[in-house]
Amino acid sequence: MAVLKLSVYPASVLAQTAKEVTEITEVEERLIEDMIETMYAARGVGLAAPQVGISKKIIVCSPETKKGSEYVFINPEIISVEGEERDYEGCLSLPGAAGNIKRAKKVTFRARDRNMKPVKMTVSGLFARIIQHELDHLDGRLILDRAGFSERQSMIDSFRQGK
Ligand code: NI
Repeated sequence: MAVLKLSVYPASVLAQTAKEVTEITEVEERLIEDMIETMYAARGVGLAAPQVGISKKIIVCSPETKKGSEYVFINPEIISVEGEERDYEGCLSLPGAAGNIKRAKKVTFRARDRNMKPVKMTVSGLFARIIQHELDHLDGRLILDRAGFSERQSMIDSFRQGK
């Protein structure tokens, strides 16, 4: 396993729509393992493949922030959402910046697991926020794109100052 280099704003891969994964080969298996290691090394709770420069629909997350308790989702898709709440959110691709981002409280989504078996889950709270954040990455969207104009500017400023 290896810690991969993180793609940081405004890398173009972060603005692209990621490609569907049709099969898990050794290449994807290695990528998944490396993404998990990279997420923990960066103290993140979620990571999407575009954040390590790979435009594929793969996300990993660790809502319990405990090694070994991570989830891997391939081609995730939100089916339904419920409620709304605001909370502070950061992003490994925007170090130093955080925004108060509105998200659904509860989401039901389907995906494939790392063996390409279909899964369907309903999650809420931090887990739901992570899923929405990582799915945004697969659509080429960052928290900046979820913020109002002035908040967007202040996030970009904090990010630049931290560089
Ligand atoms: Ni992010």
